[in-house]
Amino acid sequence: MRVKVDRELCSGDAICSELCPEVFEMDDEEKAVVIVDVVPEDAEDACRDAVDSCPEGCIEIIEE
Ligand code: F3S
Repeated sequence: MRVKVDRELCSGDAICSELCPEVFEMDDEEKAVVIVDVVPEDAEDACRDAVDSCPEGCIEIIEE
């Protein structure tokens, strides 16, 4: 599974990087960036939590 963040919509709540730091980091603009190409299997649950918890709904899951 892969994820991407719509940076236009991201408001910098940083819930994603708190719930799943293996996948999301905050950058200098206080927006989330995805730091992995493919989400590690052991981070998938945390990543889905992050997707569900993002108040802007701006993280998209790309299933393969
Ligand atoms: Fe942005 Fe949502 Fe994370 S608003 S910082 S992608 S929790």
